[in-house]
Amino acid sequence: MTTTACPSRAEALALLHEWVENPALRKHCRCVEAAMRAHAARAGEDPERWGVTGLIHDFDWERHPDLERHPVAGVAVLREKGWPEDICVAVLGHATHTGVARESLMAKTLFAVDELCGFIVACSLVLPDKSVAGLEARSVKKKLGRADFARNVSRDDIVQGAAELGVELDAHIEFTLNALKEARMEWEQ
Ligand SMILES: [Fe+2]
Ligand SMILES: [Fe+2]
Repeated sequence: MTTTACPSRAEALALLHEWVENPALRKHCRCVEAAMRAHAARAGEDPERWGVTGLIHDFDWERHPDLERHPVAGVAVLREKGWPEDICVAVLGHATHTGVARESLMAKTLFAVDELCGFIVACSLVLPDKSVAGLEARSVKKKLGRADFARNVSRDDIVQGAAELGVELDAHIEFTLNALKEARMEWEQ
């Protein structure tokens, strides 16, 4: 696996904006970026590298909104552009249907935060101010058990993600929620 230099955040953001117009999807990508940065910092890894990986993990979804093509076709574009292989493999790994193993800590973390970020945002959007600022971890945990809430978010992926990362689910939710709260000016608009 390579650890070559990765594109800058500005380059990653330009790629995201070139491919994605939907504000909610752009927000999801910045949200996953924020989570990845916090997890990298905690693990003593590179927040820039993990951050851009989060930022671009769904960059092809608007053009390839089906599991036949997302994220495989997007990763082909990244490879053409010379993106480092560890990032490409992590992006493939966030989608279980690719069958690409999540071996690096970065790949495991991307999978562990992707659906969880979607779920946390869904929880925030039903609050009066539609912000994570006042969202409590216990409310997130409670809603996870409600099958009628945010049905499109896979609970199995959230549980599996934490397990692969080797962290306890409640602690994972709390850490990720706090990361999103702390960085909310960066992603929550
Ligand atoms: Fe995805
Ligand atoms: Fe995603």
